[in-house]
Amino acid sequence: MYHDFNYEATLASSLRAQWQLDDVLRADQELDFSRNMMPESLARTAAVQSLNPFEQRVLNQISAHQYLSIFGVVEEFILPFLLDHARPALRGDDWRVRAVLNFAGEEAKHIHLFKRFHNAFVRGFPVECQMIGPSEAIGAEVLKHDPLAVGLVILMIEWMTQAHYLGSIRDDTDLDPLFKSLMLNHWKEEAQHAKLDTLIVDALAEGRTEEQIDKAIDEFFDIGGFLDNGLKVQAGFNLDALEKAIGRKIENREEVEAQQHQAARWTYIGSGMVHERFRATLESLSPHAARRIAEAAPAFA
Ligand SMILES: [Fe+2]
Ligand SMILES: [Fe+2]
Repeated sequence: MYHDFNYEATLASSLRAQWQLDDVLRADQELDFSRNMMPESLARTAAVQSLNPFEQRVLNQISAHQYLSIFGVVEEFILPFLLDHARPALRGDDWRVRAVLNFAGEEAKHIHLFKRFHNAFVRGFPVECQMIGPSEAIGAEVLKHDPLAVGLVILMIEWMTQAHYLGSIRDDTDLDPLFKSLMLNHWKEEAQHAKLDTLIVDALAEGRTEEQIDKAIDEFFDIGGFLDNGLKVQAGFNLDALEKAIGRKIENREEVEAQQHQAARWTYIGSGMVHERFRATLESLSPHAARRIAEAAPAFA
């Protein structure tokens, strides 16, 4: 076995790690717009030479708005996925039922927290930032796929949040403490979700032939491509908001848009694809599946 995760121990760690919304952000608390909100390792906004430092910070904050929006969207399809997975097994192992329902409850809390941050962002930022959606339509598109493919996408997302927090402490020089706390607290609970989702993926893959697993990997790529298209559209929205906020057109807009799309590909897809624990799950499903995903990963770096 490539891991020693189990429902009982993970539920116990989850209950110990739990926090309340107000511990992270009270409903009336304001973000600090004099600071960056995203770590440079994810936002890559300090790398945009055609912007001055003030404009780079504005773009960094727009990238934080994107983070809140994208996580809002993904958490909204994780929740029904978990409930669908829990319902048929409600009379099974009690630890499993409680662990999965607690996982779902925490994701509902994360949706609430990301909305609260989003509201604070909207209160403090000078212009409206458009976001892709509606989230129901994105969720419906993702959830129509093979549950194993969806489970793998979710597992990738759970592990990627681990890399995000580590990225945010490593590069932190000027981060808004509240945004840093969002990353920290999300990381704490997601660490347990990643274990549970590993167990869910194991269960969904059980008894599948190599060919059936390969088919699920095709669908994993379909979902990845769909999300990536969304990130491309979002990169355009982000630059629209930047131009509005700074009151000028960016002369090399196409180049900046491509660079920011690439930063998002790394943040929301690539950093999960290359996570060693995600790769370990793929390897245990099928070395061929692991190889296919490893070969695609450099495009998302
Ligand atoms: Fe979450
Ligand atoms: Fe999660």
